[in-house]
Amino acid sequence: MKTRKILITSALPYANGPIHIGHMVEYIQTDIWARFQRLRGNECYYVCADDTHGTPIMLRAQQEGITPEQLIARIGEEHQRDFAGFKVGFDNYYSTHSDENRYFAEFIYKAARDNGHIEKRTIRQAYDEQAKMFLPDRFIKGECPRCGAADQYGDNCEVCGATYSPTDLKNAVSAISGTKPVEKETEHYFFKLGHFEAFLREFLSSGAVQKEIANKQMEWFESDNGLSDWDVSRDAPYWGFKIPDTDDKYFYVWLDAPIGYLASFKNLCNRTGLDFDAFWQPGSDAEVYHFIGKDIAYFHTLFWPALLHGAGFRTPTAVNCHGFLTVNGTKMSKSRGTFIQAESYLKHLNPEWLRYYFASKLSNGVDDIDLNLEDFVARVNSDLVGKVVNIASRCAGFINKRFDNKLAEALPDAALYQEFSDASERIAELYETRRYNQAMREIMALADKANQYVDEQKPWVLAKDPERLSDVQTVCTQGINMFRAIITYLKPVLPQLAADAESFLNAGELDWNSISQPLLTQEIATFKALMTRVEPAMVEAMLEDNKQAIPAPTEVAKPTGPLVDDPISPVIEYGDFAKIDLRIAKIIKAEHVKGADKLVQLTLDLGGATRNVFAGIKSAYDPADLEGRLTVMVANLAPRKMRFGVSEGMVLAAGPGGKDLFILTPDNGATPGMRVK
Ligand code: 2FM
Ligand code: ZN
Repeated sequence: MKTRKILITSALPYANGPIHIGHMVEYIQTDIWARFQRLRGNECYYVCADDTHGTPIMLRAQQEGITPEQLIARIGEEHQRDFAGFKVGFDNYYSTHSDENRYFAEFIYKAARDNGHIEKRTIRQAYDEQAKMFLPDRFIKGECPRCGAADQYGDNCEVCGATYSPTDLKNAVSAISGTKPVEKETEHYFFKLGHFEAFLREFLSSGAVQKEIANKQMEWFESDNGLSDWDVSRDAPYWGFKIPDTDDKYFYVWLDAPIGYLASFKNLCNRTGLDFDAFWQPGSDAEVYHFIGKDIAYFHTLFWPALLHGAGFRTPTAVNCHGFLTVNGTKMSKSRGTFIQAESYLKHLNPEWLRYYFASKLSNGVDDIDLNLEDFVARVNSDLVGKVVNIASRCAGFINKRFDNKLAEALPDAALYQEFSDASERIAELYETRRYNQAMREIMALADKANQYVDEQKPWVLAKDPERLSDVQTVCTQGINMFRAIITYLKPVLPQLAADAESFLNAGELDWNSISQPLLTQEIATFKALMTRVEPAMVEAMLEDNKQAIPAPTEVAKPTGPLVDDPISPVIEYGDFAKIDLRIAKIIKAEHVKGADKLVQLTLDLGGATRNVFAGIKSAYDPADLEGRLTVMVANLAPRKMRFGVSEGMVLAAGPGGKDLFILTPDNGATPGMRVK
């Protein structure tokens, strides 16, 4: 069979939060497909990257008092640790904040611009005068215009589900500064998606996109305005790539995110000498597949192919969409404790259990899949431990102990083995078409057959009869060969189990084509338990740990007791508190602030770094008395622009005010920069 050249991608996760098991549906689905293609002997590359740009990442870095580069480096490492934990085998994992991505983003943009597909238009947008920035819809909060619920985002209401524009919100405030936004004019750059209508109609009907998704996208063509222009620019301050020939306009994160697929692959090509053009030129005989969630189909089946086409690249062979993950039948939820982080899962449970469970549920449709935790325990124990591994553990001991580890010279039931070998193309077709659930069913039916064979032959009974000893060897050889075929079929799903089985079989790597030949006269290794059972207690421990990592939102506590005149603020969770970085700071300079009667301007030494902080303690302290003193400060407070300058932190003080205001003073032995615990 001709070797296919295949490039596969999964959606690039945002670099502003951890990987959770909802994400893992996609990475596991894609990784299984990539491993399957390699196992079939195809030339296959699987690339991904972190999606690193945009306002949320910029603001989060500010809140943490670090640069966006530092934030994305840290999150990138966490993501890669979690993916490796789940045995997702990328050929390259990269970042959209890379030279390659800047190059391709500019290239694709310029091609669109030079061919007349970019239009500049002035729009009116909400603006935060204090933070001096335009506000994305998600950063405007107010009361829902429909149901009046407080604290709703600028694009939709989480209480009644209404969608609206931020200008409809009542009593809108900026989520950044808490001030009332104003409307301001700004020039934006729009990609004329409508220019690509004919091309997109063809792309959507070519079979590259699942029918249900393609039909949904086609509805856009029929809507009143046709395909809308796409706003691809954002104003400074923005964390991303500057648009060529502008001073203060940046590419919107969703423009350079899919371009990250090209960038990551280019980076792989640079490292390994692969030919980039052979995959991305129009007419290339290579295949390109994107695996994504159905929520981002719009970007991948309209904008992305249009951008590629406009810049002279080939378009994807297919965009494969999947549904979302529910846990115990409902949306993952922090308060129910089912928002399970990859890290929590990996601390307690074997990654291959989840890989198998997802495989047993995944089809090529876009329906959501459910992780029912009781069913998870039952299915893994019944299928993997009770059926698959059981075949080897029932047969191996006899070969190890009675036959010097040696398999027999021939199979006693070649016809039965032939059935296992004949299943190969059927199972391959199910993997190829992403009907993993059906593939798992076929494979488990084979496992049932193999167990039934061992049940009927009863090697443990034969072993008691000296005359039938050679039958024990052949029966167990038959069993081990059926196990070998099953493990080969499961290898894309269970790479670790397959690797352990390879060590046990001691005959090199299992590959799809070698199943046709049984393993005979082979000296196998001593059998070791290949997989343990999932215990419900492990799942409980994982959920408990996860609750600690992501505390559920709690009711606001009512203040009681002597502080009732100065009520205690609403309760915060330990996780919120843990985010506050308290440090010992030395006041190296303290000055009056002209025109401010409450403020003192402090220069603080944090053991190397210095910070400028405006503190409202003038009523209690003469600046000259403060110099040289140690105090406690919140070191990771987002910088705040005040009338007199930017304040980069907060000094902690206590007291009712006036003269009775005391800056907190550390005890002996404290040094600047030291963490306060
Ligand atoms: O939805 C998301 O999580 C995006 N970060 C996916 C980007 S996929 C691709 F376009 F980069
Ligand atoms: Zn509402």
